[in-house]
Formats: sequence, C-alpha cells, structure tokens
Amino acid sequence: MNSGAPQASIVVFASGRGSNFRALCEAQKRGELPVKIEALVTNVCGAGACEIARAHGVRVIEVAHAGLKRAAHEEAVSKALSAVRADWLVLAGYMRLFTPAFIERYFDKRIGAARIVNIHPSLLPSFAGTDGYAQALRYGVKVTGVTVHLVGAGLDDGPIVAQRALEVRDDDTQESLMKRGLEIEHSLYVQALRDLVTKPWSIQTGRLDGGRPRVVFE
Ligand code: GRF
Repeated sequence: MNSGAPQASIVVFASGRGSNFRALCEAQKRGELPVKIEALVTNVCGAGACEIARAHGVRVIEVAHAGLKRAAHEEAVSKALSAVRADWLVLAGYMRLFTPAFIERYFDKRIGAARIVNIHPSLLPSFAGTDGYAQALRYGVKVTGVTVHLVGAGLDDGPIVAQRALEVRDDDTQESLMKRGLEIEHSLYVQALRDLVTKPWSIQTGRLDGGRPRVVFE
C-alpha cells in the first residue's frame, strides 16, 4: 500500500456514535487507507466518536456549538484547526451545515472544489437531509443506497465520488435497513477516500446543461 508518496492528512468531523470514524481508523491501521488521521473534531462533547478516537490514539478537538452562532462556531473550529495539517476534512455523521464562507476556506482551485468529503445514507440526490434510511422506508422505494460526495454550498450537494445501492426488503425496519446500510457505508467510505488520495481524478461537468458535476477517476 505504501507507494512512497507523502500520505494525505485528514481530519474527521463527527457528532455522534462514530461508526464510520471507527471504520476509517481500523482501515488505516490495517494499511488499507493510506492517510494520517490527524484529529477528530466534534461539536458534541462526549460523543461516542470521542471514545473511539482515544482508543485509536487520535487527538480529539471538541468545539461545542451551544450558545454560538454558526459563524462564531466555525471560527472556533478554524482556530483550533489552524495548527493541524488537513489535506481533507472528512465528515462522518457531522450534524452541522457549513456556511459558504467556511467551505470557501477549503476550496482548492486545482481540483475545483473544497477539500471536504461527506458520506450520506441515500442515493443522492434522493433523500437529502436527515434520516436517509427512514426517508427510503417512508417513500416506499425498493432500492436506496449510500453516497460519498465532495461538499458543495447546498444541502448534500457537490460532486459525487462514489455510490452503492442497498435493496429495501419488504420486512425492513428502520433498524434493519440502517444496519445493512452502515455496513455499506463503512466499506464505501474507505474505498472512496482511498481512491481520492491515491488515484488521479478530476471533476467533470456539463453532460447536460446545469448538471451536477461528478468525480471521474482516470
Ligand atoms: C451515517 O448514516 C452517515 O451516513 C450519516 O450520519 C450517520 C453517522 O453514523 N451522515 P456514525 O456516527 O458514523 O455511526
């Protein structure tokens, strides 16, 4: 796995249980994800993800959002990150929307997008927002899935990096669907991040006027 190239540094953002974060830490330890996990940022002090970080020796940066306006909270996050190397911000269940100004800070002209990546529990653009698995059940679809995408200025938009489908069974509950979905998330996120940091790719637009751009691997 070690090609001799300098490893990308990532900072993971999570607000909750942290199972995706755990999957990234474990894949990194197994040598399947050639990145350095520099820190975990959380807005929820005591979130499950913090325990996982400590167990894996990852520095925890807690910036509680309570009582802070969005911009002030982001300012505090940026300040905390100013001394941390971060080639990519990796959102893994981070339950806050970034302002366009924050996203702009991580914009990289060479790739034409911000260096921020997110995982979402649906086949975007379907079921953006919260509770992707619940939305799939509510709408009665037979297939849903998982999307990894670069973060754009709108809700769950930005160029799609990878997607994987998940069958919705007739007897699925929210719990059973989420359980199978999370298994997909954990492997898809590792694969998509590995591809982003190891393969050549570009963002391609314009298949149809106004179409959503996508990440294309060479
Ligand atoms: C996942 O379903 C992820 O797709 C969404 O938030 C959830 C986080 O779960 N963005 P976990 O904290 O990684 O277990």
